[in-house]
Amino acid sequence: SVPPGVLKTNSRGAPWVEQRARPRRNRKSETMRRMVRENQLSPADFIYPLFIHEDNSNVLIASMPGCERHSLASMVAEAKDAWQYGVRSFVVFPKVDDALKSNRGEEAYNPSGIVPRAVAMLKDALPDSIVCTDVALDPYSSKGHDGIVENGKILNDATIEQLCKQSVMQAKAGSDIVAPSDMMDGRVGAIRDALDSEGFTEVSILAYTAKYASAYYGPFRDALDSHPGFGDKKTYQQDPANGREALLEARLDELEGADMLMVKPGLPYLDVILRLRQESSLPIAAYHVSGEYSMLKAAAERGWLDERKVALETLTCFKRAGADVILTYYAKQASKWLVEDGMLG
Ligand code: PBG
Repeated sequence: SVPPGVLKTNSRGAPWVEQRARPRRNRKSETMRRMVRENQLSPADFIYPLFIHEDNSNVLIASMPGCERHSLASMVAEAKDAWQYGVRSFVVFPKVDDALKSNRGEEAYNPSGIVPRAVAMLKDALPDSIVCTDVALDPYSSKGHDGIVENGKILNDATIEQLCKQSVMQAKAGSDIVAPSDMMDGRVGAIRDALDSEGFTEVSILAYTAKYASAYYGPFRDALDSHPGFGDKKTYQQDPANGREALLEARLDELEGADMLMVKPGLPYLDVILRLRQESSLPIAAYHVSGEYSMLKAAAERGWLDERKVALETLTCFKRAGADVILTYYAKQASKWLVEDGMLG
């Protein structure tokens, strides 16, 4: 039975716990919950990754249900479709023909390569969009790495020379944001100087600041056929066991002129997002990566999870952890759900 004194009786004779503060009052209706909500998802926060290739037809990606590798025409159609639900930003990832790959990845800065053409087409179709481009050698590398390989090692500074050429070429093509995902030391500063000296002071850098050597990238590598040619990426991507190291990367990227800092993957690294949020005044981006997307899709296909609810919850959690920007394969779908739910405006 209830110990004496805990449960009282109010003046109407009903049970009464003498509790003044009752947080449930702020949750009593949907209208009240919306009034006091701390974080709100918006399609304007999303960057929508799009896989592209030279073929005229699309290819489904088996490990990423609902995602396709697009022809350039289909990429534009997909971006326009996402635009009507409020998505304003896109990042393109190319699958490159093996014949165009080399150790030094020269195709990465070919001005008539697939990426500059894709950028021009997107900016032409949606002039007010924000188009981001990935800076790294892996789609162009015959060795399947983000940098030049010599004697089994990834060369840092020689790779940066290529990344600078790649960034300047992308800026010339009309890219609004270049996003170095390679994790070479010093590349943000070098890219900033290269862009500035060519007159591209307005092109932004979204640095993959804390990019971990993660097994969650598997489906992305399936999509682009970009699995490492040998070994792994642990000599340049961060050790998943390390949190403090992300703060060092953040300080360096900030000093080198990054405009936004990214944490990748997202959900298993929410603590890192929070730590960067507390350390830096720059906008923080979270990459909800391919494996995170695929896990959710797989569970949803089996009927084990409610996809719509779990996806929106997950994306909201990025905001709660401190992310301003979210790269997600759910960008279009989540925006559509938000519109349907009347969650905007
Ligand atoms: C390559 C790159 C990768 C991703 C984005 N850019 C893969 C990798 O580093 O091997 C992964 C994105 C995802 O898994 O969704 N520089």
